[in-house]
Amino acid sequence: MPQSRPAADGFAEAMVAGLSGQPRAVPCRYLYDSEGLALFERITELDEYYLSRTETALLAAHGGDIAARVGTGCRVVEFGAGSMAKSRLLLAALERPSTYVPIDIAADALTLAARRVSRVFPGLTVTPLAADFLRPLTLPPEVAGGGPVLEFFPGSTIGNLAPIEARDFLRRAARLAAPAGWLLVGVDLAKDPRVIEAAYDDVQGITAAFVRNLLARANRDLSADFDPESFDHIARWNARESRIEIHLVANCRQSASLAGRRFRFRRGDTIHVEDCYKYSVEQFRWLARAAGWQPEAVWIDPARLFSLHLLALPGGA
Ligand code: AVI
Repeated sequence: MPQSRPAADGFAEAMVAGLSGQPRAVPCRYLYDSEGLALFERITELDEYYLSRTETALLAAHGGDIAARVGTGCRVVEFGAGSMAKSRLLLAALERPSTYVPIDIAADALTLAARRVSRVFPGLTVTPLAADFLRPLTLPPEVAGGGPVLEFFPGSTIGNLAPIEARDFLRRAARLAAPAGWLLVGVDLAKDPRVIEAAYDDVQGITAAFVRNLLARANRDLSADFDPESFDHIARWNARESRIEIHLVANCRQSASLAGRRFRFRRGDTIHVEDCYKYSVEQFRWLARAAGWQPEAVWIDPARLFSLHLLALPGGA
């Protein structure tokens, strides 16, 4: 989840619990401290990582169609706003959006990015909300009432949630948008596993550095003593689950201390750090319907790499 995490966010507990269990696994949200966010930004520019540029191209090509469908005066709510580059494209395409509520856990970065958006769109009320979008949310009172809510969840971040978590997120998003609202969500498509594996294991090794940063972060923030280079980064397609699984794999026998505990690794032992689920259009529509949304439209690039779904609340917007 590309929203950066403050230091006291349960990282120590998550690392200890994750390394004590079997199989070893640490939630992917801990990849995103400020170093992790910077590395993730570099990933989005890689040749192999087709997701960001394809979604941006879809937004640029179909912004007019999206605007025509959602109408005038929307209140735009973005989950995990980050740099807001894609939201700026969307806001420029919409007809007189009234309000923009970027939601992100990193309050300082959020305020800065929101200020930049205000300067570009002077008529827009920008009300940043520093919160974890994976928890239940309420919109700030000054945003209540007015035009329909258009929620925006780009980047296929929804793919970092297991399908049941994704359904629960979609349900909460439906409650937030009620009674009349839309959700525009970017979803990476299932495709040739070689294309997906390359996107998560680039030749420059930026993704490997991003994943090893989990251990480097533990050294920085928790005074652990991992040797990140003693772990290889492996991205493996799991066809049954339709997901790419990312693991750190110990490349030699070793141990590391963390929070007064010693963790031992044999060569080949793994730490599971991230899953990225990939959907067909129909699979994702099924999930959306299960969460109370009505699929309204979907835009796909000519190479069928990525999908941008517009969902509506039935009887609402
Ligand atoms: C943030 N998220 C959508 C990225 C993805 O593609 O699942 C995270 C990522 N992990 C490795 N590369 C990119």
